[in-house]
Amino acid sequence: MSILLTGGAGYIGSHTAVELLQLNKDVIILDNFSNSSPLVLDRIKEITGKSFKFYELDLLDKKNLEKVFIDNNVDSIIHFAGYKAVGESVDKPLDYYTNNIISTLNLLELMKKYNIKNFVFSSSATVYGNPDKCPINENSPLRATNPYGQTKLMIENILKDISKSDASLNIAILRYFNPVGAHKSGLIGEDPNGIPNNLLPYISQVAVGNLDKLKVFGDDYNTHDGTGVRDYIHVVDLAKGHIKSLDKLNTKCGLVIYNLGTGNGYSVLEMVDAFREASKREISYEIVKRRQGDIAICYADCTKANRELDWQAEYGIKDMCIDSWNWQVNNPKGYK
Ligand SMILES: NC(=O)c1ccc[n+]([C@@H]2O[C@H](COP(=O)([O-])OP(=O)(O)OC[C@H]3O[C@@H](n4cnc5c(N)ncnc54)[C@H](O)[C@@H]3O)[C@@H](O)[C@H]2O)c1
Repeated sequence: MSILLTGGAGYIGSHTAVELLQLNKDVIILDNFSNSSPLVLDRIKEITGKSFKFYELDLLDKKNLEKVFIDNNVDSIIHFAGYKAVGESVDKPLDYYTNNIISTLNLLELMKKYNIKNFVFSSSATVYGNPDKCPINENSPLRATNPYGQTKLMIENILKDISKSDASLNIAILRYFNPVGAHKSGLIGEDPNGIPNNLLPYISQVAVGNLDKLKVFGDDYNTHDGTGVRDYIHVVDLAKGHIKSLDKLNTKCGLVIYNLGTGNGYSVLEMVDAFREASKREISYEIVKRRQGDIAICYADCTKANRELDWQAEYGIKDMCIDSWNWQVNNPKGYK
């Protein structure tokens, strides 16, 4: 029985593949490398000493996708694949709706045809939009504010509908907060294309000298130091959350939804300080105007995942920064 990881060559997928392989699970990775590098596959093998099947394939190519299900005994799917840049989604909404929604529909149709019951979906805290209050629990109102967030919300709704229509399906919707960090080996990590959208890759590229200085978008938010507060979670903790979710699905739980974060919020300036400490490098930054669409504070209430999955994030911001730096300094140009 195999676990299919769509987008398994990406940032979160590759870390999850490592955790699964280390547990001797039978893993199949599928990716079209639209936002990842084939080198990742060698790195996963190097870390784990394990082999796995790989398909270079676009999920939009349903005909060839079906072959994966014909040739393998897939019993669970973890669906990471998708586009994920909020700003880009505003400029290219059709690309986002096509890639994220159609590929998920292709997958779900084949899942039905081949009688696969377990599905884990990479959702995002983005579905909470600008929350009324923090910490955010799973019952907080959902309101996506950009096309990327809309695709996550639409897929969540599709999953809720198919779950209602078929009680034998087990579906975990995982709402990630802000994944950061890298594997301890320094062999896999986040490798954004071009200028990073996310804070930690940006800071680490400033520290390593690829970028000049960090732009801090606004210091006039209603937070303790005026800069935005987010819930950063180590990508290895996140990967382990997927393993626990698969265990949960094996209890035949129907549809379940979990926030995966640490429950702690850190400001931009706190992250800069923590990274300076970890890297022993100067991080130049300048305060600029707020970025449109950014919210002041966002952090998770993770008690549901703690209780029902027996899962808790173990790493703090010190480890997140040390591991990000270790990855960056060993791979100054990422996988290139
Ligand atoms: N990283 C974050 O900050 C974050 C936060 C919340 C949710 N998520 C979600 O988690 C998932 C994984 O995120 P990530 O950070 O690992 O992203 P990533 O871009 O590193 O990984 C996604 C992978 O999917 C592949 N892919 C994209 N479209 C595909 C297609 N049509 N067919 C086959 N492969 C395709 C890409 O090549 C890439 O390797 C995404 O769905 C993302 O929206 C990420």
